[in-house]
Amino acid sequence: MAGKLDGKVAVITGGASGIGRACAELYAEEGANIVIADLQEGNGAVAAVQERGREAVFIATDTSEEGSCENLAALAIEKFGAIDVLVAAAGIGHAGATSDVADDSSAMLLVNQPLSSWQRVIDVNLNGVMLSDRAIGRRMIEAGNGGVIINIASIMAKVPQVGVGPYCVSKAGVWMLTKIMAMELAPYDIRVNAIGPGFIDTPMTAGLNVSETGRWAMAITPMRRMGTAEEVASTALFLASDDASFYTGALLHPHGGVFTD
Ligand SMILES: NC(=O)c1ccc[n+]([C@@H]2O[C@H](COP(=O)([O-])OP(=O)(O)OC[C@H]3O[C@@H](n4cnc5c(N)ncnc54)[C@H](O)[C@@H]3O)[C@@H](O)[C@H]2O)c1
Repeated sequence: MAGKLDGKVAVITGGASGIGRACAELYAEEGANIVIADLQEGNGAVAAVQERGREAVFIATDTSEEGSCENLAALAIEKFGAIDVLVAAAGIGHAGATSDVADDSSAMLLVNQPLSSWQRVIDVNLNGVMLSDRAIGRRMIEAGNGGVIINIASIMAKVPQVGVGPYCVSKAGVWMLTKIMAMELAPYDIRVNAIGPGFIDTPMTAGLNVSETGRWAMAITPMRRMGTAEEVASTALFLASDDASFYTGALLHPHGGVFTD
């Protein structure tokens, strides 16, 4: 049976883990070859794509660095000849932390945080998405074959939460960035959309279940459970495929019913 992404090439930032990796696996099942771009090694993700019968390459990338994103775009073209889809999933919960679990101690308040903590989150989550979008968007424009860009935002683009201020602001920025990029790239048949997941079970949210924040998260999630990375990947597959051919500038929410509007 034909896959929804047969013959396509997808670059996935943050593809080594969590939501990015689930996208890589699902896209490969649907026929795409995959570039895994991540700060951490991506051997597991590359092997998972290959097990599904598709080609994969890992390119070490720091999306917060302009030169690194340009290098990613150039190497991806060198390897596969074209880029059809970008999923910009690389992100961090807060500076210097591996967990997204909010900490409402006074040290995490915006009024008390060191500027460097704010800057790191904005650098990765907002500047990194912009740099990835434009490095790959330029290549798509040059190739003239259209394309799809999917930015991973969050419900936190719309739901403010004390303790993760920089994260919320960065994701709100990704949502506006997505709308602007959609307008800029529409004339080139490049669709740009965002996904704003709710609480998803990934390494970023390890520990959420047992925290005060975790109880709050379930209280605002009518379905009373965390989502899976696969449930976000299926949204990313829809947006990447021709099923979403009239979607651009949209923000889709796999979030179990969290009230965001
Ligand atoms: N897990 C959730 O509940 C949730 C909810 C909403 C949005 N998101 C967003 O989804 C995206 C993926 O998160 P996840 O939950 O899969 O977390 P994750 O920690 O499993 O994956 C994030 C990946 O991004 C990579 N990364 C971090 N900084 C990078 C950089 N500068 N350059 C390149 N790669 C970098 C990490 O190495 C990691 O592999 C993030 O943007 C996150 O903000 C997650």
